[in-house]
Amino acid sequence: MTQHPLDTLITRLPKAELHLHIEGSLEPEMMFALAQRNGVSLPYADVAAVRAAYQFDSLQSFLDLYYAGASVLLTEQDFYDLTWAYLEKAHADNIVHTEIFFDPQTHTARGIDFAVPLAGIRRALADGEAQLGITSKLIMCFLRHLSEADGFATLEQAQPYLAQIDGVGLDSSELGHPPSKFARLFARCAELGLPAVAHAGEEGPASYIWEALDLLKSRRIDHGVRCTEDPILVQRLAAERIPLTVCPLSNLKLCVVNDLAQHNLRELLAAGLCAMVNSDDPAYFGGYLNTNLLACRAALNLTQNEIVQLVRNSFEASWLSAQAKQNWQQRITQMLNP
Ligand code: HPA
Ligand code: ZN
Repeated sequence: MTQHPLDTLITRLPKAELHLHIEGSLEPEMMFALAQRNGVSLPYADVAAVRAAYQFDSLQSFLDLYYAGASVLLTEQDFYDLTWAYLEKAHADNIVHTEIFFDPQTHTARGIDFAVPLAGIRRALADGEAQLGITSKLIMCFLRHLSEADGFATLEQAQPYLAQIDGVGLDSSELGHPPSKFARLFARCAELGLPAVAHAGEEGPASYIWEALDLLKSRRIDHGVRCTEDPILVQRLAAERIPLTVCPLSNLKLCVVNDLAQHNLRELLAAGLCAMVNSDDPAYFGGYLNTNLLACRAALNLTQNEIVQLVRNSFEASWLSAQAKQNWQQRITQMLNP
């Protein structure tokens, strides 16, 4: 079958990814290999059984398996291998810059020292830049189902390593855990010079997006798709060019939308929002970045202009330097006008 011409463009364009949980890139094959290497037992007979279990009806039904899967990650080398595998996939998708999340509390709660995941991830990111030319940022997420005090304890453990952490985020179970629960923690992070992002408006209401902006000073909103329930909020997001890191296949798999054809991605762009496409937890949701873009192109019949806008937005919304952003935008312009 011949490829749709826009699909060729999607695969060829240089892209930035801004919403990727590194623990969510743990493929079932690696889960089994690490379980064996570390003597951890898994409640699955084989890789096929793991994949068969990936049928979710909500964010929580996914998180239960995501945290269980992460239990095979013990050593610095495990975190290196996990991150390196993601970077190779990213490279194959022409991702040239990635800003990834990690969840330290998922690991420190199992008795792993804070420094272990950080060192393994950082070593892989350094190799990714040296060997694959992929630049990166690392964002430490707080788990919102835990207490703010637990978040403060994690920030305390992070203090010696703040030079290796580019920002903070907020993830895990959204409903019942509004951003306001973490206002003091994020104020402290701001004092320490850590820029913030937050998941909001995935399953939670538009009011959580307001809170993320006003109480956490979130510079981007992760997901944010429920913003369209509040036209005043959409106006603000557009006026301030606050990016939304949208994850379409994640939204589909977690039943945030019932059908990709009903996703509001096009509506977000049409409203002038700085939205772009990301893979979130690709090992669990059925695809990396290009698979997400290709699926949206097909389901929503995206135009070339919309695709290019999404990719340009990924660089605009990144934490790259102004010069690097300009270089990538120029590269895209050159590719479109050879
Ligand atoms: N939402 C909230 N928490 C998460 C997600 C998500 O999509 N992925 C990993 N942790
Ligand atoms: Zn996420």
